[in-house]
Amino acid sequence: MSDLDSLAIEAAACRACELCNTRKNVVFGEGNQNATMMFVGEGPGRDEDLVGRPFVGRSGKLLEKLIEQETGWDRGEVYIANTVKCRPPNNRNPLPEEIASCEGFLRSQVAIVNPTVIVTLGAVASRALLGVNEGIGSLRTQVFDFHGCVLIPTYHPAAALRGGTGVLAAMRSDLAKARLLADE
Ligand code: URA
Repeated sequence: MSDLDSLAIEAAACRACELCNTRKNVVFGEGNQNATMMFVGEGPGRDEDLVGRPFVGRSGKLLEKLIEQETGWDRGEVYIANTVKCRPPNNRNPLPEEIASCEGFLRSQVAIVNPTVIVTLGAVASRALLGVNEGIGSLRTQVFDFHGCVLIPTYHPAAALRGGTGVLAAMRSDLAKARLLADE
């Protein structure tokens, strides 16, 4: 069994925060264990909670399309995870204590996959990994180091679905930049 498989089993039994009381499934993450690019979202929504897989709803379909079009990879070639592994009720933002309870799983996923580039999707994931409180609009124009990986913040696909001006174009350009950096 791989290190990621053992970690997923541990996560499936996790009761470290209140989200365990309302989840249907733990959404650990999935993809290529040797991926050079890893995506980190916020947390499971309704669709993900029902099936136990990340980004399977509308945001996921858009993310999949952007990954394919801007990096040339399909979703199975990258690794996809979330900041918290259990759905926050009514899709509210995860609370700081929930993010903190789940942080060990995400850090271990990063350490095991050891991607060249991490793309954080939205303010929650970007702030959680970087430990900052800036808005995503300014974070996304910067490139960070996260324990030896290049970290590129971009918008969450839900923001593009809401039709924010220029959000989709900005995401495309961020993913294209991430792809170039993944090859270096
Ligand atoms: N939004 C997220 O942040 N993660 C998912 O897995 C699905 C929607």
